[in-house]
Amino acid sequence: MRLLITGGCGFIGTNFIYLMQERHPDWKIFNLDKLTYAGNRKNLLKLEQDENSGYTFIHGDICDKKLVTSVLNDHKIDAVVNFAAESHVDRSINDPAPFLTTNTLGAQNIMECARSAGIEKFVHVSTDEVYGTLGPDDPAFTEAHPMEPNSPYSASKAGADLMARAYFETYKFPVSITRCSNNYGPYQFPEKLIPLMFLKAQAGEKLPIYGDGSNIRDWIYVDDHCTGVELTLLKGQPGKVYNFGGAAEKTNLELVHELIAILGSDESLITYVKDRPGHDMRYAMNYALAEKELGFTPAVTFNEGIRKTIKWYQNNGPWLEEVLSGSYREFMDQWY
Ligand code: NAD
Ligand code: DAU
Repeated sequence: MRLLITGGCGFIGTNFIYLMQERHPDWKIFNLDKLTYAGNRKNLLKLEQDENSGYTFIHGDICDKKLVTSVLNDHKIDAVVNFAAESHVDRSINDPAPFLTTNTLGAQNIMECARSAGIEKFVHVSTDEVYGTLGPDDPAFTEAHPMEPNSPYSASKAGADLMARAYFETYKFPVSITRCSNNYGPYQFPEKLIPLMFLKAQAGEKLPIYGDGSNIRDWIYVDDHCTGVELTLLKGQPGKVYNFGGAAEKTNLELVHELIAILGSDESLITYVKDRPGHDMRYAMNYALAEKELGFTPAVTFNEGIRKTIKWYQNNGPWLEEVLSGSYREFMDQWY
C-alpha cells in the first residue's frame, strides 16, 4: 500500500506512522505536514534518515490544491488518512479562523483532490466533540447522535464530517469517518491536559483546573485510537462513521488526582481557574459498531497507559524542552 498521511508530525499522526511502519513494513508512507506549532518533523527523523523505512516527509498544506494533487499523482497514492488539523479547543476560542481554514476547507480540498485522483480509500479522522455534550446520566454517544458542536474547533470538524458525508452521497467518494474520544500518550503537545499537568507538577507549579473539575472525558491510549484508524482503513465501509473510545470516563479532577499520586506531587498545587466558555460537560463513546464490524477493542487500560505515558515524558525531557522553546524549529531551518 502507498499511503498518504496528513498531519503526521503531530501527536496522533506520529504514533500512527510508527505503529504502521512496525505492523506493515512493506507499506510506503508519505507524510504531508504543514509544520504548524504542533508539528515536529524531528519526531520521525529516524525513519526519514533510514532509507529502508519506506517513509517520506513532504512539507506542505492540505489547503494547497496544486501540491496535494501532485503528491497524490506523483507518488501513486492508493489511500489517504487525514489527521491534519488545528486541534486545540482553547486556541479555537481565541481565534476560530485557522480552524475553519484547515479543518473544514482543507479537508474538503484534500477530498476533492483525492476524488479527482481516483483514490480508492480515504479515512477522515474526526472527534467525539462533534456530538456536543452529554449530561451525567445520558447514554454514551452512538454514531446516530446528532452533531451539536459547541466550540469553534468542534464546529470546524463537524463541517468536514458533513462534507465527507456529502462526498459519499453525491459522488460515491470512498470516505469513512472515525470519531474518537480524548487521546493520551507520547508526543502530545503540552497544551493538552495530561502533558500540561505533568509539566506543571514536575516544576511545582499550580495545576489549573477549569471550573470545578467535574467535566468528564473518556480517555483512550493513543495506540488504541491508531488501531481503530488502521482497522477503518483496512475494513471500514465507505460512507460509514465509526466511534472509538477507551471505556475510561473520568472527571478532570479525578484524573489530576491520579497524576499527582503517580508523580508523588502535591495536592495543594490544584488551583481552580475560570471555566472554558461553552465547556462540554461530558463525553462518552459507544463503540459497539467498531467492535462488531471492525473487531476493535481498546487494549490498554487507563492504569497501564497513564504509567507508560508518564514514563515517556520523564524519559523525554529534551523533547518537551525543545517543543516548548521552539528550538526544533531552528533545527528545521538547517534542513532546508
Ligand atoms: P496535533 O495538533 O498534535 O497535530 C496536528 C498536525 O497537523 C500537526 O503536525 C500540524 O503541523 C498538522 N497540520 C495542521 N494544519 C495543517 C495543514 N493545513 N496542512 C497540513 N498539516 C497541517 O493534533 P492531534 O491531537 O494529533 O490530532 C490529530 C487529528 O485527530 C485531528 O484531526 C484531531 O481533530 C483528531 N482527534 C484528536 C483527538 C485527541 O485527543 N488529540 C481525539 C480525536 C480526534
Ligand atoms: O475529545 C476529543 C478531543 O480531545 C479532541 O478532538 C481534541 O483535539 C483534543 O484537544 C481534546 O479536547 P479537550 O478539550 O477535551 O482536551 P484538553 O486536553 O484541552 O482538555 C481536557 C479537559 O481538561 C477539558 O475538560 C478541559 C480541561 N482542562 C484543560 C486544560 C488544558 C483543564 O481543566 N485545565 C487545563 O489547563
